[in-house]
Amino acid sequence: MLRLAVQKSGRLTRGALDLLKRGGFEFEEKSTGLINPCKNFPLELLLLRDEDIPEAVSAGAADLGIVGSNVLEDYELRGPAERAERLLSLPFSSCRLSLAVPTKCGFEVLTDLKGKRIATSYPSILAHFSEAHDLSLLPVLLNGSVEVAPALGLSDGIFDLVSTGETLKQNNLREFYKVLECNPLLISRPLGRGAKAGLRDALISRLNSAINSQTNRYLVFNAPKSNLDSILRDLPSIDGPTLMELANDFSKVAIHTVVKKDQLWKTISAIQALGATGVLSFSMEAQIN
Ligand code: PRP
Repeated sequence: MLRLAVQKSGRLTRGALDLLKRGGFEFEEKSTGLINPCKNFPLELLLLRDEDIPEAVSAGAADLGIVGSNVLEDYELRGPAERAERLLSLPFSSCRLSLAVPTKCGFEVLTDLKGKRIATSYPSILAHFSEAHDLSLLPVLLNGSVEVAPALGLSDGIFDLVSTGETLKQNNLREFYKVLECNPLLISRPLGRGAKAGLRDALISRLNSAINSQTNRYLVFNAPKSNLDSILRDLPSIDGPTLMELANDFSKVAIHTVVKKDQLWKTISAIQALGATGVLSFSMEAQIN
């Protein structure tokens, strides 16, 4: 049985549960327990606060974890724990760790912050940054509601996660300096080569498939044989596109391939310019490489 720690409630919870669902892992939807067994795989979810996940994995209370790179990095900078193995970078809830200051303050360049008080839940990353830039920042440790600290006179600025920027705006703060891009990671403790490692590999493969199927599109079109070389030259694919004869037009072939979602329209424009017709694109349920 594998145990996977995920955030009980917060920024990463929905994305993590959706990804597991798309990987074919089924859980009791209405479970309120802190351990939720998977119905169709030897896996159980351990629901924790995100800042406790690196320690749970490091101490072996969980085999795997889904945790923000910000939380993991702050934990690892803090102590002697062995670095967790980063298995996958997960494509949801990405954000950044930034320094922010009151909208109306006169700070303009990084050195204007020298010796200032900065409220944060990420003291180790802040200390590392402060040292690297010789800023002698004074950390004010808060575990939540960090944005309110300047208005309360607790700090001169903050160092916190920014996604849409809405929370900063609501608290009359402006993003001053982006320090780190952050995204969720699937991490693991060392599992050796036994049965658990086999389960972990199966889980990775299924999550990878779910990620690929979400980020890629299946593309089908008809192409004139006269332009085939040009069309195939830059066409993305997995192992190479599939070519199939058309039943009633021997001047063309049908081409099937897989394209990154963000490259889809660029690819369609390129193949259309080379005579492609009957272009179809599909979402995929799974892509197992
Ligand atoms: C983070 C951060 C901000 C908010 C920023 O909190 O602490 O409060 O997100 O997001 P925005 O730029 O889209 O407004 P999070 O949701 O991670 O929860 P927390 O309050 O537990 O830190």
